[in-house]
Amino acid sequence: MFIAAILGVVTGLLAWHQVQSERRIDLDDIASRSHVLAQQLSGRVVGSLQLPDEEARASLEDRLDGYRRLLGYAVFRPDGSLVAAGPAVVEFAEVIEAAVVEALASKHEVIRLTRAAGARLHILAEPIPEGGPITGVLVVAHDVSYLDDRATARFANYAFWILLVTLLAVTLVVGSTWLAYERPLSMLADWMRRLRVDDAVEAPPGLPTGRLRSESDRLAASFRAARSTGRALSEAAMYSEQVWTPDRLRAHAVAALGDANQLIVVSNREPYMHQRRDGKTEALVPAGGVVTALDPVLQACGGVWIAHGAGDADRATSDANGRLTVPPGDARYTLRRVWLTREEEQGYYYGFSNEGLWPLCHLAHERPIFRVTDWEQYRIANRRFADAVLDEVGSGKGVVLVQDYQLALVPRMIKEARPDLRVGLFWHIPWPNAEAFRICPWGAELLDGMLGADLLGFHLQQYGNNFLETVDRMIESRLDWDHFAVDLRGNRTLVRPFPISVQPWSERHVPEGDELAQQQSALREQYQLGDVYIAVGVDRIDYTKGLPERFRACARLLEQYPQYRGRFTLVELGAPSRTHIPRYREHLDHLEALAEEINWKYQADGWKPIRFLVGHHDAKTVHAFLQMAPMCVVSSLHDGMNLVAKEYVAARAGADGVLILSEFAGAARELPDALVVNPYDIEQFVEAIRQGMEMNSVERYARMQRLSNQVAENNIYRWAANLLTALANTQPNVVSTSAGS
Ligand code: F6P
Repeated sequence: MFIAAILGVVTGLLAWHQVQSERRIDLDDIASRSHVLAQQLSGRVVGSLQLPDEEARASLEDRLDGYRRLLGYAVFRPDGSLVAAGPAVVEFAEVIEAAVVEALASKHEVIRLTRAAGARLHILAEPIPEGGPITGVLVVAHDVSYLDDRATARFANYAFWILLVTLLAVTLVVGSTWLAYERPLSMLADWMRRLRVDDAVEAPPGLPTGRLRSESDRLAASFRAARSTGRALSEAAMYSEQVWTPDRLRAHAVAALGDANQLIVVSNREPYMHQRRDGKTEALVPAGGVVTALDPVLQACGGVWIAHGAGDADRATSDANGRLTVPPGDARYTLRRVWLTREEEQGYYYGFSNEGLWPLCHLAHERPIFRVTDWEQYRIANRRFADAVLDEVGSGKGVVLVQDYQLALVPRMIKEARPDLRVGLFWHIPWPNAEAFRICPWGAELLDGMLGADLLGFHLQQYGNNFLETVDRMIESRLDWDHFAVDLRGNRTLVRPFPISVQPWSERHVPEGDELAQQQSALREQYQLGDVYIAVGVDRIDYTKGLPERFRACARLLEQYPQYRGRFTLVELGAPSRTHIPRYREHLDHLEALAEEINWKYQADGWKPIRFLVGHHDAKTVHAFLQMAPMCVVSSLHDGMNLVAKEYVAARAGADGVLILSEFAGAARELPDALVVNPYDIEQFVEAIRQGMEMNSVERYARMQRLSNQVAENNIYRWAANLLTALANTQPNVVSTSAGS
């Protein structure tokens, strides 16, 4: 109604404006015509005005009549008296005389448009002769009543057309808005409702292509994933009445895997590495998430762990087939070492895995390097690991858990030889978005290798979403969004999130009670820690861990809050890692120089703000520091999960403590009671450290209890149980005939 009123007013104004312009043109025409007529008669009138009235009237008589719209002429003397007038003009004498009086007074022509006796008149009163003493006034009068009728007709005509064109335009705009905007939105709303209440989840076919379409496809995918995760979680909840233990996992594995209960784990990194030091051979537990997480699972379930024998005493401590039982002195499972040549290790591990895939998957602004020779070695090494798996399985049955990005081709290689084996692949690092992954020159081959697995696990749903989108973009396969699965070359791969976790410290052989207290006071003395407030960090020295950001935040804290000088120390337990790669060596050098620079600036009386302890730290030392530090700092720039965060929480069970945790570590999704920071934002980082130090004990305790309940409930045994349950429920070798993404 309002729009109609506006439309009416606008149309009226436009039509009126047009009619007025045309009326002005018509009046200009009449005025020109009157001038021409006056011009033609003026010679004769000048002559006549020389004569007395009677004769003058007689001489003009035949020229004063008008025709049609021209009413006629009238002639006046300079004193305003009428000499002669046409018969039609006489009727309007009053208005004409008024114009004559005005012309005589102004000595200029006067044009009047006026209404008299029911008619519209146009009057020209022109003094004559032009340019000399005035001898009279000649009047030309027109009846222009027709102009009013014409204006009315024109107004109606214009109003009609303007209205018609406007209505057409409005119809077009409204129609196209409905088509392009309202209809898709209402379809979207309808579809979202169905997505919520029914199982109908295909995005509506009528949606326009482009972002709306692709975003709704993603939304649908996430929704399906959430739903299937929800189903999986509710299944898992059946097992959650009690905390998961090694015994419970063992029993569960036997039940879930049935006769295929030979468990084979394959990873690049071995859980126990033998090294020669000072003429003696010692077994080290390498730093890193895979070992921390998988060793307790193998200790609980038994089985075989196949890994690269990278220690310089590994061959001497294995049998002819590369086998030995571990843990040393407490045989729980078999470690089968795979031997790689120097060239293979260089290309496969240092090159393609850690200079290519590692920076590709972590958003830490490090450029990936892809060399064709590295890729060749990656394929060769993956074949070696796959062959070792097949050798261990023999003709028997088993379940194979392949670990991480170093072994992406292994699942397909195993399946090609043994389609009946159940194969899971767990990806311990983030999966980037499809656009980022595309730069890998052998991305399609990697995806194909991974999609040999029956189950593909990531820490977060987000990484699974990224993976499916990558598959969608890069290879011809059939995506089953409802089940979050991919069918490729006869194999179906389920993609699921399994947030990895840690083993309770109570199960590890670490000092407790007095022994722990003694160890801690020895460490305080060794590193001159006195009774300062300790923030601890435990990391492999890797550019993804945000160590420069952490060091700089400590320096800024002391600059901004001088009261903490002498009272706060960051103890960073840094394990050198991948030091054969120049970038890692440079990073270590940079960190040592940075710590030195900060210490030099602030250190006093034996106190240092940063104790950067570079070396291999065993579980006992790590535990002692986690136990005595009221704060732990994890500042990864990007991290699949980060188990140090969970290790700290597990070490603080029953106590208080503050965890500063990067929002870019997967663990941040599960540990909201940490102080979550953006490590790139130094001011926020500093405030979090200050807030943690100043936090009252009630809050510290409450937060840490919620965190440790979360980690205790979702420990590594539950992770393994969920993974094995999901893998046991897969159906290996399902042949799919349709292809096309
Ligand atoms: O967490 C990712 C990861 O590559 C794991 O596979 C491994 O446990 C850890 O980092 C350590 O890396 P690396 O085995 O190269 O020393």
